[in-house]
Parts: sequence; structure tokens; C-alpha cells
Amino acid sequence: AQTLTILGLESSCDDTAAAVVRQTEGQPAEILSSVVHGQTDLHSAYGGVVPEIAARAHAEKLDICVRQALAEAGVTLADLDAVAVTAGPGLIGGVMSGVMCAKGIAAATGLPLIGVNHLAGHALTPRLTDQIAYPYLMLLVSGGHCQYLIAQGAEQFSRLGGTIDDAPGEAFDKTARLLGLPQPGGPSVEGEARQGDPKRFRFPRPLLDRPGCDLSFSGLKTALMRMRDQLVAEQGGLTRQDRADLCAGFQAAVVDTLAEKTRRALALYLAEDPADPVVAVAGGVAANAAIRAALETVCAEADARFTAPPLRLCTDNAAMIAYAGLERFRSGARDGLDLTARPRWPL
Ligand code: KG4
Ligand code: ZN
Repeated sequence: AQTLTILGLESSCDDTAAAVVRQTEGQPAEILSSVVHGQTDLHSAYGGVVPEIAARAHAEKLDICVRQALAEAGVTLADLDAVAVTAGPGLIGGVMSGVMCAKGIAAATGLPLIGVNHLAGHALTPRLTDQIAYPYLMLLVSGGHCQYLIAQGAEQFSRLGGTIDDAPGEAFDKTARLLGLPQPGGPSVEGEARQGDPKRFRFPRPLLDRPGCDLSFSGLKTALMRMRDQLVAEQGGLTRQDRADLCAGFQAAVVDTLAEKTRRALALYLAEDPADPVVAVAGGVAANAAIRAALETVCAEADARFTAPPLRLCTDNAAMIAYAGLERFRSGARDGLDLTARPRWPL
């Protein structure tokens, strides 16, 4: 059985990451190291990720991350079989920083280079953590992504639907901003929602009246703004309870929408008659307990297994890139030094 050791690099958004993953054919993969340097503090003053600042920080940090990942894994460049790197989609400056760094390593060592789609990295994580067999249904929910995929192979995905506007994490972040709660919005809105009454404010359930698995979240923000402004006009501001009730109402709308669309995606997936039906979720929003509970219920109703990677592997990291690169490498894929960074790259 062939053992592969792969270095992975990730720099497509606001996390600079490097990791080493090893797998002997037929065995579970092993994460030898996974280093993530976040940039949240660099961007916090601007209320969002500033692409120029992100690219500069990636270029500065990649080297350090690679050294640290190799050291923590206890390997040197000579122990590697290939270098995998996120080649898109993402912020172009950051993706280019990663691709240039990987090319430099490949050129200096002669190691093969593997370009990895960032979304494929997220989508293959359930195989890295739980050896889930193809085909499985994948729900990607983060600050930047939202889609249903049937994963059929390392480079074979069918997309069942996705958001037509904001990603759910983005909606949580905007909700927090509108209510003066701290960023990232997901955890703070979830915390407030726990103290709130989800029935006091009636939020829309976007696109539920239309067939298919597409989602929309931007209308929730508009509804929230209207409710907030009305409260401010009537009583001069928001009470603690108003804020909690708004968060609870917003979150309930997201939960209901995701639950129903997952039910539909699951029906399409089950129609393919998978031997061991599995629904996997990944992305930062998978941390939300209410969303998780709703998805678990939907899966239980349909006799499908539910799985979610541990949170540090749900959010952006390089172990998923190393692993996706490893699967591509095993199937014979190699990229040349002419590998290009792709800001847009649908699966
Ligand atoms: O996957 P991730 O770390 O980064 C990308 O967007 O790629 O996801 C971050 C997003 C943020 O929008 C954050 O607000 C959201 O995930 N998030 C949550 C929770 N924790 C993080 N959303 C809802 N509930 C949470 N508990
Ligand atoms: Zn991501």
C-alpha cells in the first residue's frame, strides 16, 4: 500500500494556513499538522475583509506557516510526495500568494504541484475525518459559501442548489452589525437568540414557495432592518429583549429554510439509491446548534446518517486542501508550474 505525505497551503480568504496530511492507501488519513494564522484583527476596523491587506498578510505569513507545519509534523520537504495549494475560488491576491509560494517550493524541490479547488477541500473533509464513502450529500454553509452538492468523486460533484444572494454566515454577520452586536455575527446572534422569543417577529421564509434547493438570505436582512427601524421610531431605541427576539426570529427563519431545502436535497440524493446514505455539513455556520439540531432531525426522518467535521476542520484550514490534493494525486492528477490562480472556479 502506498503512503503519501502531502503539504497543503490555503490563503483564499482571511486565514493563512499550512498543513501536512499523510495517508496509507486503505487507511484513515492522518493530520500530522494543521497551522492556521487568522487575520481577523487586521480587518476588524474595516467591517470586512480588505483584499489588499489580506494578500499582503498572506505573502508575509505563508513561509512561517509552512515552516511551522513541517516542524510540527516532524517532516522535512524531502519527506513529501507533493505540494497542494488552493488555486481558487477566492480573493485573487491571496490565492496568488499561495500559488506562488507552492510553485516556489515545487520548483526548488522538484515536488509535484497539485492545484485544489477550495470548495472541493471543504466538500471532501468528511472523508478526511470520517472516511465517508461516495456518494454523499454535502451542505456547505459558511460566510462565503452556501450550496448543496452530491459528492461522487474527488473531482465529481453535482450541485443541487445554493444561495442566489448572501451566504447564511454573511446574513448572521449583517444581522449582528444591524443590531450592534460583535463580529463574527454567528456566535453573537446565536447567543442572543437563546434568550429570545422566535415568534415575536415574523420573518419571511425566502424561496420556500418555489421548487428546488436554491436559497436566499438577503430578504431577511431587509426585514430585520424594517423591524429595527420601526422599533426605534416607536420607542427611541432597542431594549435587550428586542434584540434577543429579533435574533431569535431571524435564526428561526434560517433554520426553517435550511431544514426544508435539506429535506428536498436529501430526496434528490436518496433517489440515486446510495448504499449508506450520509449527509455531511461543513463551513463555519455548521457551528450553530439550532441549525445542526434541525439538520439532524431532517436526516433522522429520512434514515440518513448525519456527520459534521470538528469545527476547526469546518472553517478554513489547509488540512482539507492537503487531503483534497492527496485524493487528486492518488488519481494521477498533476499540475505544472503554469498553474494559475482562479478567483472564480465553480465545482
Ligand atoms: O467557514 P468560515 O470560518 O469562513 C468562511 O466564510 O469561509 O465561516 C465563517 C462564518 C461567519 O459568517 C460566521 O458568522 C459564521 O460562519 N458562524 C456562525 C456561527 N459560528 C460562525 N453562524 C451561525 N452560528 C454560529 N454559531
Ligand atoms: Zn472556506
